[in-house]
Amino acid sequence: MEMEKLVSLCKRRGFLFQSSEIYGGINGFWDYGPLGVELKRNVKEAWWRDMVSGHDDISTMPGAPQPYEMTGLDCTIIMHPQVWKCSGHYDLFHDYMVDCRQSKKRYRHDQVVGRWVEAKGQKIFATAGSDSDQPETDIERNALKFFGLRTKQAEQLAWDGAMVSLTTVDDFAQVLGPDAKELGTLTEPREYNLMFKTTVGALGGEENSAYLRPETAQGIFVNFKNVVDSSRVRIPFGIAQVGKSFRNEITPRNFTFRSREFEQMEIEFFCHPSSSADWYTYWRNRRFQWYLDMGLAGDKLRLREHHSDELSHYSTGTADIEYAFPFLPTGEYGELEGIAHRGDFDLRSHMEGKLDPNSNPLTLELDANGKPKHRGSGKDLTYRDDLTNERFTPHVVEPSAGADRATLAFLCEAYTEDEAPDENGKLQSRLVMKLHPRIAPIKAAVFPLVKKDGMPEMSQDIYRALKKKFNVFYDEKGAVGRRYRRQDEAGTPFCITVDGQSITDGTVTIRHRDTLEQWRVKQDDVVAEIDKLISE
Ligand code: GAP
Repeated sequence: MEMEKLVSLCKRRGFLFQSSEIYGGINGFWDYGPLGVELKRNVKEAWWRDMVSGHDDISTMPGAPQPYEMTGLDCTIIMHPQVWKCSGHYDLFHDYMVDCRQSKKRYRHDQVVGRWVEAKGQKIFATAGSDSDQPETDIERNALKFFGLRTKQAEQLAWDGAMVSLTTVDDFAQVLGPDAKELGTLTEPREYNLMFKTTVGALGGEENSAYLRPETAQGIFVNFKNVVDSSRVRIPFGIAQVGKSFRNEITPRNFTFRSREFEQMEIEFFCHPSSSADWYTYWRNRRFQWYLDMGLAGDKLRLREHHSDELSHYSTGTADIEYAFPFLPTGEYGELEGIAHRGDFDLRSHMEGKLDPNSNPLTLELDANGKPKHRGSGKDLTYRDDLTNERFTPHVVEPSAGADRATLAFLCEAYTEDEAPDENGKLQSRLVMKLHPRIAPIKAAVFPLVKKDGMPEMSQDIYRALKKKFNVFYDEKGAVGRRYRRQDEAGTPFCITVDGQSITDGTVTIRHRDTLEQWRVKQDDVVAEIDKLISE
């Protein structure tokens, strides 16, 4: 599937729009349209239902070491600045950027492969491309124009390595002609903190600076004691949170994949240190299975364990769940979710002060005067097991997912071009979004075959009955075949049609979006039937 086709469908049918589009848009920010908002809500609700509210606290989940509890939180986006100093984000949440002296633009260091040259009478940035399948910047567009290539060809060249190899003036000369002259110049990579900074209160000044959270996790750590004291949760238990996070990404790309404002679905799972490795394995497998259950194909999904040299010292394991997004070159995967064994790093940092993640065992980071560099809260965030009387600092396993990335993966997976018969039985090409019924924005559409003979009235009764439970759509306009096609594009799994027979025997047809199978059910059974089909 070509990404351009999905992007165009998303705009045409109201899944996703560029933020502030009428003013030319703002890079890295996306708005969910009428269908998109339902889809993303359903993704988040399915996650919350499966991980939190529907979780059985009493039984042992398959693969889990023992029964556990789950609860939730909804924390603020702006928190005390000390939170980010003790979490490590203030000092360490960096990316590297390079400035282009020629174009005055700024790039992530790993996304620019190319250089300025003067050749054939033009100044041109010969680029090896980007991780996107569209030229997104002027320099990329110029490069493509210069090479006289269409996007796809250029991309192919880039991935084939032909353009990547243009790293010396000689290389340039070969491709750009003998007079090609390298002009340079990108600055050396520089560190750049990804947190958005803001000011709290009317007085400006550094002492009133605050940050938009770059992850929801820290709200959970700083409320650990509140949750333990106010509810009856006992370790092992997890605290979940869904909410906005913000990162001032240097070059947001690939549709919503890397945005500057996005939503996370995170769990911090608190357990005894002796069982944390088992819980890590459990969450890694459980979360992987969730994506399969929600319809992502196994051959496009993989679980990638980080190598030991990729791990932080405090972590005994980290795995990424990755998906073969269509905008990536064949064989490459993009991260959907990370599952990390975080040890006691976060709770200890918030108690004692910023710990040094580069030393093993972890030590408190000290400033030049030997004082704690970033002081912790000084609050006791240890846990006492009331059965054994043991007091310990819990270990944490963190499954951290992106709601927008999951939604994007579901959209990519759903996009299908196939054929379906029209009213005369002739096969016509169709575009259908095969979204899992649980996340489909509209669960069912109700159509009267024609606008007479009592069919609209009966259809509206069915619509109203369904509407009490589901997001459903009523449509009486145009040929029924066209109405089916519109619902196929919206990903609506079931269409209910009231026809002449319905008026005489009280039955209606249900059409299945993917199999195109049609069957009749009694009007009174429609709600139960749709309910059953959606929960299957
Ligand atoms: N608390 C751990 C944490 O935040 P992360 O790997 O930085 O870990 C977790 O982020 C997930 O959040 C990612 O797997 C991804 O799904 C999502 N995410 C991170 N940065 C993102 C961005 N710029 N745009 C969209 N989603 C993002």
